[in-house]
Amino acid sequence: MVASFAIGIALAFGQHLLYSSLHHKVEDDEDRKVKYVLYGRALAYFSKVAFGSCCILVYRQRIWQVSRTTFRNKALTVLSIDQLFLGTEDPSLFLNWEAISLAPRPVIIALVIWLIPVATIIFSPGALTFGWYFEVDNTSLKVPTLNFSAESFSDWRVPLKMKDGTTRKSLMFYNTTDALGKQTDFFDYYDSPSTDITRVTLMNAFSLTDASLNRADARQESCGGSFNCTYTTTFVGPGYKCGQVATSPADNAKLEELGAPFNTSKLIPDGKNVYFADIEEGDYARPQDSRITSQGGVPPPEVNLDDIGVFKSEPIIWIGYAVNSSIPLADNSSFRTNWTHRFDQHIFRCVHYETKYTVKWNYTEPFFTTDVSQEFLSPVVNTTFSQNADGTPNWEAPIPAENYISPRDPERYKKVAAYHTMGQSLRRFLKGSIEMDPPIPGPSYPRVSSDIAQTRLVSNSTSLPMKDLPEQLQDFYTNMVLSLFSAPQMLVVDHERVLVNRTRFQSTFIYNPEKLWACYAPVILVTLIILIIGAWNIVKDGTTFSVGFSRIMVTTRNTTLDDISRGACLGNDPFPLELMHTRLQFGVLHGHTEEYVGVEALPGIGHCAFGVPSELSPIRRGQPYAGLPKREGKELAKEKVD
Ligand SMILES: *[C@@H]1O[C@H](CO)[C@@H](O)[C@H](O)[C@H]1NC(C)=O
Ligand SMILES: *[C@@H]1O[C@H](CO)[C@@H](O)[C@H](O)[C@H]1NC(C)=O
Ligand SMILES: *[C@@H]1O[C@H](CO)[C@@H](O)[C@H](O)[C@H]1NC(C)=O
Ligand SMILES: *[C@@H]1O[C@H](CO)[C@@H](O)[C@H](O)[C@H]1NC(C)=O
Ligand SMILES: *[C@@H]1O[C@H](CO)[C@@H](O)[C@H](O)[C@H]1NC(C)=O
Ligand SMILES: *[C@@H]1O[C@H](CO)[C@@H](O)[C@H](O)[C@H]1NC(C)=O
Ligand SMILES: *[C@@H]1O[C@H](CO)[C@@H](O)[C@H](O)[C@H]1NC(C)=O
Ligand SMILES: *[C@@H]1O[C@H](CO)[C@@H](O)[C@H](O)[C@H]1NC(C)=O
Repeated sequence: MVASFAIGIALAFGQHLLYSSLHHKVEDDEDRKVKYVLYGRALAYFSKVAFGSCCILVYRQRIWQVSRTTFRNKALTVLSIDQLFLGTEDPSLFLNWEAISLAPRPVIIALVIWLIPVATIIFSPGALTFGWYFEVDNTSLKVPTLNFSAESFSDWRVPLKMKDGTTRKSLMFYNTTDALGKQTDFFDYYDSPSTDITRVTLMNAFSLTDASLNRADARQESCGGSFNCTYTTTFVGPGYKCGQVATSPADNAKLEELGAPFNTSKLIPDGKNVYFADIEEGDYARPQDSRITSQGGVPPPEVNLDDIGVFKSEPIIWIGYAVNSSIPLADNSSFRTNWTHRFDQHIFRCVHYETKYTVKWNYTEPFFTTDVSQEFLSPVVNTTFSQNADGTPNWEAPIPAENYISPRDPERYKKVAAYHTMGQSLRRFLKGSIEMDPPIPGPSYPRVSSDIAQTRLVSNSTSLPMKDLPEQLQDFYTNMVLSLFSAPQMLVVDHERVLVNRTRFQSTFIYNPEKLWACYAPVILVTLIILIIGAWNIVKDGTTFSVGFSRIMVTTRNTTLDDISRGACLGNDPFPLELMHTRLQFGVLHGHTEEYVGVEALPGIGHCAFGVPSELSPIRRGQPYAGLPKREGKELAKEKVD
């Protein structure tokens, strides 16, 4: 009994361990999934067998116990005795009121035996289910970042390859003074943006979205698998710092002081333009010298190399735009003859800065978002324009000359060239103007002579520049820089290790230990109680019992039973009904106390058996009992003849 009980607990615990090991485990193979579930059920089944057999052993103890106590005082019908002995296989016991009322405890144990499979086999496997598990973790992963310094150390003569054989691409094309790079004082100087950066910036501008370009598999790459993830990268790159300078003709003096190439007189309603950009003042010239025509831009000997390739200044973006305020003009307005609504004039400038970017990437299916914050470090080329005698800026000779970036300092030069090429890629979209005819006499429509109309900087409803153009422009440039991530072959695309916060929904096994123990706890408790009862009975009785055939046989050696069951000796079913309702008791048979097999010396030893109440007396503890009286040989023969 104890072994069964212990094995039952061990198996239940085994089921718990199995389920614990499966908890939150991803198993895509359906066959293995089913296998795991079946292992769990097998454990549940075997623990049922163990707990059940413990109870059955006690039950057998109990019915003999009942035979001697209950049946001693009360007689039960043969039917009830049958059902009690078959209680573990035949549930009709629970419909027999006589058995329930006269032997309630065996009936309860039998009931427990019947209910154990419900808890163990049927309900306990329910503690393991499949479900969606929301996994959250933080991992250090290699994610893409930008490193413009990588350009500093690149040399177009020595192409770098990626693992898959793709050539790593620079942001710009160079001209050189010596194609072989053998001369001692040779240098490479900036020519123009490379085809790759042109492609990326065009695609970003033409996409018309306010998101940067990215690789299709960027989320899997950055998150290290099919996760949703967020992380932050910081890098230093180019950025435009834009600021509003003028918002009305009253600010023109300020504009002049700052060296603006134009003033509000260019803008509607004073002028014709609804958008006007001057972005090329002081720009890097191409060609650097008109005599440079040979392949590779090698300057002919007569060209003075001192100024070739030097970044003297980075052009400042000056943009003026007018916004329809939607407020009708007053009747006395001087513009009333041609205009119906007031137009607000704005002029802003953007300066190219080396910028520290802090980008929060949020890859959440199906999109990704970036939250960018910029810290402007220093101007890309830190020079300003002196003024000519007439007060106009001198675009030719920026000051101070010591801040010029010379190609003879390649490390610094190439990084600045990379910034410059990014800026140039933006400025090509901004160049030009948009004119608009007044609504009187009309018709009013914009006449576009700028590539800005191809970008999202122009409103899709009015075809006029966006109201918040400075912010939009800065943002547009940021996205252009971030779009470099869509081209991992670019030299500037690097990798760094950062902490990535990842989450994902996964279909996994989910184990609920409470559910499992809610099934097993009552079983264990009740079985334990039954076990204690059984053990107590054994201690009290000093013996164990069984319901094997031999045990039944020796307890029914009573000729009265032979008499009443005459005609039903084949064990056939149904047993005669009249017989079924005969009441029997268990006790000491009268009149069989003279001679006993083997223990003849002991007088008063009785024989215990089932019998009709009138021929039995109660069993007493401590009294030795034996079998049937020894019969004479001829008597036996005679009976055989009968
Ligand atoms: C950028 O690249 C250069 C050259 O490859 C390297 O020396 C430098 O450490 C890198 N910077 C960062 C921040 O990774
Ligand atoms: C604005 O610029 C025009 C030339 O473009 C000039 O004639 C005019 O004086 C300027 N206005 C102011 C207020 O500076
Ligand atoms: C580089 O060389 C090419 C070919 O000679 C020339 O067309 C181009 O203008 C040169 N670029 C610069 C910046 O001088
Ligand atoms: C300015 O806006 C008003 C109101 O939105 C509109 O009626 C008017 O046509 C606009 N003017 C021009 C020139 O587009
Ligand atoms: C302004 O309107 C008047 C008449 O309404 C017209 O003659 C003149 O050409 C217009 N000016 C412009 C610049 O369209
Ligand atoms: C990431 O984006 C998703 C949806 O766009 C949002 O629900 C989530 O809060 C964002 N996570 C962070 C850390 O900003
Ligand atoms: C038009 O512009 C608005 C504001 O920028 C944007 O939300 C909208 O999606 C654009 N429409 C189309 C069709 O792109
Ligand atoms: C990522 O988040 C979205 C939105 O919350 C969700 O629909 C999707 O299932 C998540 N993807 C993973 C792999 O967890």
